[in-house]
Amino acid sequence: MSDILGSKPAVFNVAQMGNPVLRIPAEPVTAEEVGDKSTTFLIDSMIATMREHSGAGLAAPQVHVSKQIVVIEAHSNPRYQNKEDIPLTVLLNPKITKFSEELEEGWEGCLSLKGLWGKVKRSTAVTVQALTLDGRDIEIKAEGFFAIVLQHEIDHLYGKLFVDRMDDISSLSFTDEHNRYSAD
Ligand code: NI
Repeated sequence: MSDILGSKPAVFNVAQMGNPVLRIPAEPVTAEEVGDKSTTFLIDSMIATMREHSGAGLAAPQVHVSKQIVVIEAHSNPRYQNKEDIPLTVLLNPKITKFSEELEEGWEGCLSLKGLWGKVKRSTAVTVQALTLDGRDIEIKAEGFFAIVLQHEIDHLYGKLFVDRMDDISSLSFTDEHNRYSAD
């Protein structure tokens, strides 16, 4: 294989709602794929793409790759002001093993539903089992914004979008109107 890309990540085009890749279940990452060159390039490029678009997370199907990989990060994110920071987290084959019974409704957006925001009810805490970049088993117990982002991103791996989770579609808003009338 040639090395025209070197080690530099790429910024990918983000698949938008209506693209079938967002609606099919993603395949698990295999043991052979963990840590290999193309998986590393994909993950580095997902991180670059998430940062370029000020996302708090990104799932591989959003960059047209139907694989169970999510990246999450938030540092003073302009799309999510007043939310706590989340350190860069890369998860392969993540599964939510526990959902809190307690639910909370909050505003969500998605890089695949550009310019749209809606209110979604989610568990306030979750436990997630996954593999790290280098194939180690980890368990994460998350609450608050991190728990919400984990649920949103892992939904992408099952072909689910936040609009599917809305109890009441009437809160669906465009960014300008959302910022003007309903941002929390
Ligand atoms: Ni999303």
